[in-house]
Amino acid sequence: MTEHAFKIVGLPGDGIGPEVYASACRILSVLQETHGLNFELEERLIGGAAVDATGVPLPPETIEACRQADAALLGAVGGPKWDGNPADKRPEKGLLQIRGEFNLFCNLRPIVTHPALHAFSPIRPDRLVGVDLMIVRELTGGSYFGKKWRDANQAEDVCRYTVREIERVTRAAGRIAQARSGRITLVDKANVLETSRLWREVAHRVIREEFPDVTIENMYVDAASMHLLTRPADFDVLLTENLFGDILSDEASMLCGSMGLLPSASLNGERFGLYEPVHGSAPDIAGKGIANPYAMLLSVAMMLRHSLDLPAEAGALELSIQACWSEGLLTRDLRPDGLGTEEVTEAVCARLRRETPALAGA
Ligand code: NAD
Ligand code: IPM
Ligand code: MN
Repeated sequence: MTEHAFKIVGLPGDGIGPEVYASACRILSVLQETHGLNFELEERLIGGAAVDATGVPLPPETIEACRQADAALLGAVGGPKWDGNPADKRPEKGLLQIRGEFNLFCNLRPIVTHPALHAFSPIRPDRLVGVDLMIVRELTGGSYFGKKWRDANQAEDVCRYTVREIERVTRAAGRIAQARSGRITLVDKANVLETSRLWREVAHRVIREEFPDVTIENMYVDAASMHLLTRPADFDVLLTENLFGDILSDEASMLCGSMGLLPSASLNGERFGLYEPVHGSAPDIAGKGIANPYAMLLSVAMMLRHSLDLPAEAGALELSIQACWSEGLLTRDLRPDGLGTEEVTEAVCARLRRETPALAGA
């Protein structure tokens, strides 16, 4: 085992959060075995579980633990139990707070279809060939973080973006595009929204001045939601603001076949990142042992790559996952005769061990 310990804060959360988080823990322990790594995993509270235990959705101890860590791995937060809570005691507030606290402005949501999954998508298989797109969602601005108020007759959520906020996420998208096919689609509503018009001006300037090898085209969000389903393979990097990115990523999950397949990384340009599935706490299936763990396992791979600087290990995990897909090892959200969370997790673990025989059991 290597000397260096990677510090990870585990945030199981609510609903299926702890179930898919348990899958992540299994895979991390197998990676320790097969790849001689040392993960120090510390669990902390967030979301409804934190509200119940401490009265707040993001306790100071959780923030402090993240400050000392290389990365945080989150299951999911939320559920009907807390839906009536005031805004600052809602589980989702804990997630927004951790994003804000660590300035995690750049949210990466890769959408890659795999031939073995084409048959499980509601979209025609011929449209899925070659789909490999990256949603770069701005994560700490817009209506999520603007001033909010409500009285008896009205309510308001202010959508505000500064030039600096647009510049920094555009730079992130530019670097990502350079490492891919070099094409950005900026998704907005510039025919109506002033913030979108600022986005266009600033994003185009940053790309023109700093990324001459990258192209940037515009698309209205309503049209983008349609094109995502009719010609998804045409997209490379899709850059968009907070709320549009939230909506489009759930829609894009259907290209793969299930919400349970999409991972995400929330980054700030430094080492620390927050890694979590795109999906929520899925109260309708919580406690049944049938949650799809792949989104979480792919989030672990993103963590290995982006925060722990372990690209080979990330690649090995992704290959093991894809091998399991090829063998049809899927949960019930994809196929009626599907496996349970633990069976799928163990299949990926077994594959990972088989792929790395030299170190396995060492
Ligand atoms: P959801 O993503 O939890 O569920 C939507 C649908 O997808 C449900 O039918 C669910 O069963 C299914 N699904 C989601 N993940 C799955 C998985 N891994 N395996 C199999 N099926 C899966 O969205 P929702 O129902 O709108 O929200 C439920 C709660 O989760 C709400 O409280 C919401 O605020 C919260 N939420 C949290 C996060 C997060 O923690 N990052 C993200 C989205 C929603
Ligand atoms: C997501 C979720 C969150 C969001 C909620 C739970 C605050 O839907 O990560 O996609 O809207 O960002
Ligand atoms: Mn969402």
